[in-house]
Amino acid sequence: MAGASARPASIRLIRPDDWHLHVRDGAVLRSVVLDSARQFGRAIIMPNLKPPVLTTQDARAYRARILAALRQAAEHAGTETPAFEPLMTLYLTDHTSPDEIRRALDSGFVHGVKLYPAGATTHSDAGVTDLLGQCQQTLAAMQDCGMPLLVHGEVTDPAVDLFDREAVFIERVMVPLRRAFPELKVVFEHLTTADGAAYVTEADGPIGATLTPQHLLYNRNALFQGGLRPHWYCLPILKRETHRQALLKAATSGNPRFFLGTDSAPHARGAKEQDCGCAGCYTARHAMALYATAFESVGRLDRLEAFASLHGPAFYGLPVNTGTLTLHRVENAIPPELPLGDDVIVPLAAGESLRWMSQDTE
Ligand code: NCD
Ligand code: ZN
Repeated sequence: MAGASARPASIRLIRPDDWHLHVRDGAVLRSVVLDSARQFGRAIIMPNLKPPVLTTQDARAYRARILAALRQAAEHAGTETPAFEPLMTLYLTDHTSPDEIRRALDSGFVHGVKLYPAGATTHSDAGVTDLLGQCQQTLAAMQDCGMPLLVHGEVTDPAVDLFDREAVFIERVMVPLRRAFPELKVVFEHLTTADGAAYVTEADGPIGATLTPQHLLYNRNALFQGGLRPHWYCLPILKRETHRQALLKAATSGNPRFFLGTDSAPHARGAKEQDCGCAGCYTARHAMALYATAFESVGRLDRLEAFASLHGPAFYGLPVNTGTLTLHRVENAIPPELPLGDDVIVPLAAGESLRWMSQDTE
């Protein structure tokens, strides 16, 4: 393992996991799933399909489609199918029942329930309108059985400035929620602000947070560099540089509450480059190289393994992976586009070159 100031030619990590991932369905799923499975042992699969993954039955069927797509993609690529476990989630609505939570827990393959405030992001119109008003009994059941609540932490109030929606969410939703359910396991997903990092660091009780590569590497200037750049647009949106620095500090602090979650969210080029483009950055292909770049920028490659491979399983109560992943220090140019079904996708930081490349898992 690298020391804080060493510049190793390669690093070998316990095989990491991605604790926040969108893989979609159908042809898009077949195009993207291998990118994640080549690096990660497991991934928390987001349930915001159209229609959403509402029940344990839906999650069972979706899990089977993911594993089938992975086999097809590996066959198509002429490689062996990597061992990859999709960790399924349910999409919380005003009508999710406590019984559904118990069924989810009993399934053994559902590992979280995702809160999308209605209207907050891509495919969130079926989301929750009033969390503490509508979901009391369901939250109580989750707290009782140890089912984590995964939170998209932004208010949707149009009167709140887009850049302030995470900070306002903390005071309006997160604090009352955790006061009402102090033992509920909560993951503050894709944290984007210094306020969020401070809250997660200081809060009492079982709380964790995922951090994306884009929020560790870029600030909001990336959205406007030389013109309007839709491929840097995701939600929660990139924030100013002071926030990026606070997030990078949290990620590299060694605090077990912070762990890896790419939020890789594929949208075809045309869906992003239009008059009302979709939110979401595609990072799955270069995920570990992007994180290594971020950690190395502050001389903390030695803390990458804990962030990527240890803190997540500890929070979710799962074993650490047994395999390894090796990252090599080589020039790694991010291509201008990648195939996506019959279409194409522009990955985050297309055209930039990274100094790290991950090797397929042995
Ligand atoms: C995600 C998507 O496209 O599904 N988009 C994004 O910008 N992150 C939804 C989400 O996680 O908010
Ligand atoms: Zn997401």
